[in-house]
Amino acid sequence: MVSGQVVIQMTDYKVKDIGLAEEGRMLIDYAEKHMPVLMHLRKKYAKSQPLKGMRIAGCLHVTKETAVLVETLRAAGADVSWSGCNPLSTNDKVAAGLAANDVPIFAWHNLNNEEYYWCIEQTLKSEPTLTLDDGADLIFTLHNKHQELIPNLYGGSEETTTGVIRVRAMAEDGALKYPIMAVNDADTKHLFDNVYGTGQSVFDGVMRASAILIAGKTVVIGGYGYCGRGMAERARGLGANVIVTEVDPVRGLQARMDGFRVMPMIEAAPEGDLFLTATGMKDVITGEHMKVMKDGAMFGNAGHYNVEINEPDLIALSEGPKKRVRHALDEYKLKDGRRLYLLGEGRLVNLTAAEGHPSEVMDLSFASQLNAMIWMTKNGKDLKPAVYEFPKELDNETAFAKLETMGISIDKWTEEQERYARAYAEGT
Ligand SMILES: NC(=O)c1ccc[n+]([C@@H]2O[C@H](COP(=O)([O-])OP(=O)(O)OC[C@H]3O[C@@H](n4cnc5c(N)ncnc54)[C@H](O)[C@@H]3O)[C@@H](O)[C@H]2O)c1
Repeated sequence: MVSGQVVIQMTDYKVKDIGLAEEGRMLIDYAEKHMPVLMHLRKKYAKSQPLKGMRIAGCLHVTKETAVLVETLRAAGADVSWSGCNPLSTNDKVAAGLAANDVPIFAWHNLNNEEYYWCIEQTLKSEPTLTLDDGADLIFTLHNKHQELIPNLYGGSEETTTGVIRVRAMAEDGALKYPIMAVNDADTKHLFDNVYGTGQSVFDGVMRASAILIAGKTVVIGGYGYCGRGMAERARGLGANVIVTEVDPVRGLQARMDGFRVMPMIEAAPEGDLFLTATGMKDVITGEHMKVMKDGAMFGNAGHYNVEINEPDLIALSEGPKKRVRHALDEYKLKDGRRLYLLGEGRLVNLTAAEGHPSEVMDLSFASQLNAMIWMTKNGKDLKPAVYEFPKELDNETAFAKLETMGISIDKWTEEQERYARAYAEGT
């Protein structure tokens, strides 16, 4: 049960500059206009208050879309405290906008590791009953340092592929102490956010950071998962010659049949002009690859952590310190005279160099996050600590709602078709 004893200091916050609040509010209002599903749910749940009495600690990129989620969770009755889930992904205007609206938010752009975990710790002072993660750093901090808070918890949710892999590994190890909903696995999340969201916003980030022309370039995509697929398609659409690298034979085959060249990274390395990784795995690009890259080659990452491009290898190959040549673009002059360029310090380029995914796609992901919070409120206390699949009926509700906002209706099976679907005896 909710302990009821905790008083959240609603005025607590730490952001870069509260003076940015007005600009932040404009961004949030703008995002609301492009998130009709979430805004519809806000209206609906403002009446029924399904999250009344809940205290949510959230750790997710502070973007204008996240602000719309935070304000929707509050409208549905929850007290919410928030931190960012990446040192470079917080939009300081949005953070100020939320702080000015009495959200206890602890987030600013470009924080160091110590500050990053300090921010998470502040949100835990609310003694949450629910957690909402992107990458599982909050879940992990709770388990590692604040086991005393675990009895309060109804459950949590996880937004991204890497975070879901992390909590599944915790569950397999018997280390997970409360139930987590894998929001990333909702069809209305990974089939849209990871594919179309990452596909578009990664190139938004590359272009803002580098201003290069994509047409005519050879673009190497590391990993042909949901994100990689979206990125490869968008690169092709922009006129690039696309190479895909993979470790999974099925996905490698799929990339080939989708029309892309497929080869190991060491063969792609001398060919590529722009390298973009989205694997969730470390060392996809290492010194071995950098040694054979062209002068002027550029690389960036879309995976959750900054481990996919081995920056220490790059530093070891370099002569002197890196040079910040543009916003979110660093030049490394190598000892052999070549210059290589790293986008967004190897962190998710769509968030470090641009604004993350467009609002329309986050409308889907965050409708699922809201539904996950409500589902955990209803069911969490009866569940064992494990990772739970996203309920299909909620997925369908979100998809129907989105179609409706787009003015699209679809067919429905007739009774005869329903019967036929179950009629296994009926053949030729
Ligand atoms: N930037 C964003 O906004 C954003 C959005 C969603 C997900 N993500 C993150 O992006 C990453 C990928 O997510 P996903 O949903 O596409 O995952 P996924 O599991 O669908 O795809 C990852 C792919 O990478 C491949 N891979 C693994 N190691 C490799 C290696 N060494 N070389 C080449 N390929 C390799 C895997 O075989 C797999 O096909 C995760 O870290 C996820 O958390 C980022």
